[in-house]
Amino acid sequence: MNVHGKHYRTIWLKPDDPAVVQIIDQRHLPHRFVIEDLTTVEAVARAIKDMHVRGAGLIGATAGFGMYIAALTAPRGSADAFMTALRQAGEQLKATRPTAVNLEWAVNRQLQAIEASGGDIETRIETALHTAQAIADEDAEFCRRIGEHGLPLIQAISQRKGGEPVNILTHCNAGWLAFVDYGTATAPIYAAHDRGIPVHVWVDETRPRNQGARLTAWELGQHGVPHTVIADNVGGHLMQNGLVDMVITGTDRTTRTGDVANKIGTYLKALAARDNGIPFYVALPSSSFDWQIRDGVREIPIEQRDATEVKHIRGLHEGEIKEVLLTPPDSPAANYAFDVTPARLVTGLITERGICPASEEGILGLYPEKREQQ
Ligand code: MRU
Repeated sequence: MNVHGKHYRTIWLKPDDPAVVQIIDQRHLPHRFVIEDLTTVEAVARAIKDMHVRGAGLIGATAGFGMYIAALTAPRGSADAFMTALRQAGEQLKATRPTAVNLEWAVNRQLQAIEASGGDIETRIETALHTAQAIADEDAEFCRRIGEHGLPLIQAISQRKGGEPVNILTHCNAGWLAFVDYGTATAPIYAAHDRGIPVHVWVDETRPRNQGARLTAWELGQHGVPHTVIADNVGGHLMQNGLVDMVITGTDRTTRTGDVANKIGTYLKALAARDNGIPFYVALPSSSFDWQIRDGVREIPIEQRDATEVKHIRGLHEGEIKEVLLTPPDSPAANYAFDVTPARLVTGLITERGICPASEEGILGLYPEKREQQ
């Protein structure tokens, strides 16, 4: 998508040095646009853990490139030593964040591809590079297709409203910053906006890290999409007053039965949507399905992050980014990063293959090859 009129992805190889992976360091957005160079597995792990990059698809793509860096920097004495170093790097990357399944998926895909390529070390490094690029390209293309499949939902509401703006509420950032390009929840919105369908997005601020207020608002603004930032608790009131036509969120992990883990607060939005008869859609690429599990509430690991993220808030003051304390200094705080929305509250899943009900049969209807995999 565009930043100040120039096209960017969220991760790429440095044009004049393919040993360097470049990312947008999202901690500085929306106030500064900072590009960071990554050249070691440690730096990649830190970038994921400390959320220089975040969002399910981008975490997966970064792990893919992290494995390429691991291949470049692994000992070359023997294939065994090389593969041992790669497996260690994979474990190091997987340990950074527990909820988004794309991380594990990308590391495993790399290890399988490199193992299968056999051959000399140079061939294995080439394979790691091609696989990292394939993961990134696939992520962007799948998000583009999610946009195409979600577009008719917005078109139908627009027609019903006689061309009045379609009001869409979204939570957190499941935009292009959370993926390699386009995003998931935002992809149908960008597709509608680009075709001249009037849309307006209610952007939940998404405490504690404010991915909605900082990131979704910024990227919608860069693309010219009308939007309004709201405090996290406003959605229910808007829904009761007919000001939300649909909700679209992303997901960090969805079970084969359609339970959806997403940023903390998503479950409450789904409850409010159900109470008000408002469609609640979740958009995801197939890399965000966890085919092994059926019960999201019991089986999806929910990340707990540092309490300082709840107790402090960051923002721009007189040209400088500052962090200030919100709470009494000694009050303890809990920082649950995700929650699980049960499948029964989800109207449909928008995937790269089309839209399906949030149920095992619905999902397997689109992904029949996963029927035996559990
Ligand atoms: O903690 P984050 O920022 O990595 O959380 C991920 C998210 O942005 C959301 O949960 C999102 O809606 C799903 S991932 C695209």
